[in-house]
Amino acid sequence: MPGTMALPLGLLLAALGCAAALDSTLEEAWRGWKSLHAKEYPEDVEATRREVWEKNLRRIEEHNREQAQGRHTFRLGMNHYGDLTDEEFNQLLNGFAPGRQQGPGPLFRASAALRTPAEVDWRAKGYVTPVKNQGHCGSCWAFSATGALEGLVFNRTRKLVVLSEQNLIDCSRKLGNEGCGGGYVTRAFQYVHDNGGLNSEHVYPYLGTDASSCRYDPRDRAANCSAVRLVAPGSEAALEQAVAAVGPVSVAVDASSFHFHFYTSGIFSSAFCSQRVNHAMLAVGYGTSQQNGQSVAYWILKNSWSEVWGERGYIRLLKGVDNHCGVANQASFPVL
Ligand SMILES: *[C@@H]1O[C@H](CO)[C@@H](O)[C@H](O)[C@H]1NC(C)=O
Ligand SMILES: *[C@@H]1O[C@H](CO)[C@@H](O)[C@H](O)[C@H]1NC(C)=O
Repeated sequence: MPGTMALPLGLLLAALGCAAALDSTLEEAWRGWKSLHAKEYPEDVEATRREVWEKNLRRIEEHNREQAQGRHTFRLGMNHYGDLTDEEFNQLLNGFAPGRQQGPGPLFRASAALRTPAEVDWRAKGYVTPVKNQGHCGSCWAFSATGALEGLVFNRTRKLVVLSEQNLIDCSRKLGNEGCGGGYVTRAFQYVHDNGGLNSEHVYPYLGTDASSCRYDPRDRAANCSAVRLVAPGSEAALEQAVAAVGPVSVAVDASSFHFHFYTSGIFSSAFCSQRVNHAMLAVGYGTSQQNGQSVAYWILKNSWSEVWGERGYIRLLKGVDNHCGVANQASFPVL
């Protein structure tokens, strides 16, 4: 797992204006944040990055003041993305290509006959690998795909094997995926199907760049895929049944808001979340929580932004209310 990756600063700076006056009372906090996340900047860009960080910090604090007054159900926190503007963040990290997903075979639809448990958490059953870090690479689609495969491989073999995103990044271009530039979860499954396998992270480690060519080794096959299933688009009922019956399911959400970038705890529900999905994640379960005497349902989604983000790398997203953030719009899972 790479730590902090080099930012293409030249590119990013072009879009920013000149640095305004910095808040000198934040000097120590800035140094502490840089040291915690191993950030180093050339002298000529540090002030600009600090200005972005200060602005993010002020927005986070304002949100948390409102949260303390009961105006939000979730809190925000500074994290390793604190030196990115919203636009930079979305350009670098939200690499899910929306649009029509292909998949032959029937849609997975909600069935009136199927009863689902009130709560599901595949983490507790051993189906889920530790939270990963995609770095500054729009490879969320690959992380979402490995997550779903890891769960099903565990179901089949009772062995939890960490699978290779780099294998998908390097080798699924011919199917229309664009590595760090974005891709489709279903085409990642399709690659594993067409290729007859996928390597483990151990033999094919993550680099988080587009620079390497395909190095798949058939002798180290760690997963299989015989078919791809799409969940009926927009149906949270179908998604719930899929998660309950199958295991972790790949989903996509609108993760483009500031609130999503700096989410740290609680049940995420934001007026800024749209139905236009741009970030792939992994639904590993769902549940309910009591808030001010009311029962609030949530999805448990695994992210690939390291354990620093969210609830140790996960988000609880409002469930059952208007398909919040488009969570059920592009859900899919592989069949081994
Ligand atoms: C695998 O899934 C099937 C049905 O989905 C279930 O009956 C079985 O117990 C699962 N196996 C493991 C190891 O979880
Ligand atoms: C993949 O499928 C092949 C053929 O069905 C089988 O021989 C192999 O054991 C499978 N491997 C894994 C890791 O599931």
